[in-house]
Amino acid sequence: MKASRRAEPPPRLDPTRLPRHVAIIMDGNGRWARRRGLPRTEGHRAGREAVRRTLEACRDLSIEYLTLYAFSTENWRRPADEVEELLLLLHEFVAAEADDLERNGIRLHISGDLDHLPEAIAAKLREVMARTCGNTRLVLNCALNYGGRAELLQAVRRLAEDAAAGRVAPAAIDDATFARYLYTDGLPDPDLLIRTGGEQRISNFLLWQIAYTELYFSDVYWPDFDATHLAAAVEAFQGRRRRFGGVDVG
Ligand code: FPP
Repeated sequence: MKASRRAEPPPRLDPTRLPRHVAIIMDGNGRWARRRGLPRTEGHRAGREAVRRTLEACRDLSIEYLTLYAFSTENWRRPADEVEELLLLLHEFVAAEADDLERNGIRLHISGDLDHLPEAIAAKLREVMARTCGNTRLVLNCALNYGGRAELLQAVRRLAEDAAAGRVAPAAIDDATFARYLYTDGLPDPDLLIRTGGEQRISNFLLWQIAYTELYFSDVYWPDFDATHLAAAVEAFQGRRRRFGGVDVG
């Protein structure tokens, strides 16, 4: 992503009611490729360009947190060459974008199990996270080797260990305590979750964090997603009334 002059939000968006945190299930890479008679891996390559565009569009809209579902714990079940290609793309992306992330005030955060990724990728991710940890303009949270249930289970295990060791009183465990054991510790819950590719399901993504998130489903295949589609999702978000389980006071 090149440093560019910051664009104004498209006029139909209310700049005072932007989602702080947008999360995206990037779906449709395979179908995008099949439509063109290309291998699935070409869909993922084109998907990487959509990641670049979306990151830039979020920065231009002053969105503070962008979470991308990049590789799920279930994705290991795909053919070995596709898994290899996906991991390679991620590695290349982080290596190629590190300077721009640093320059543009973007902090890389990873949600997922880094310890069971190939060592070279895990090392690169840790290096870029360390390099960008002081950045405050936008947090790019990549869900990588991530599964919502696995995240909850690792949180419960660690919390149980802390309780057994007397570091946490069971009666004092509340939402905020529990959230500190999640991969998203320190990040606000998503305001808006977008899923591209036409399916309408959550696919084991951010199960705790999306309790009150607004959901937006788009038929666009991820490689075609751009700033216009993001603006349409934000516009739909701005038309919703959020009540968080309470009454409508607006
Ligand atoms: C779903 O499409 C997408 C993925 C499994 C991975 C998303 C990965 C990328 C966009 C590549 C690069 C990512 C980063 C962060 C640089 P699918 O293959 O399930 O599509 P289909 O449902 O049409 O088969």
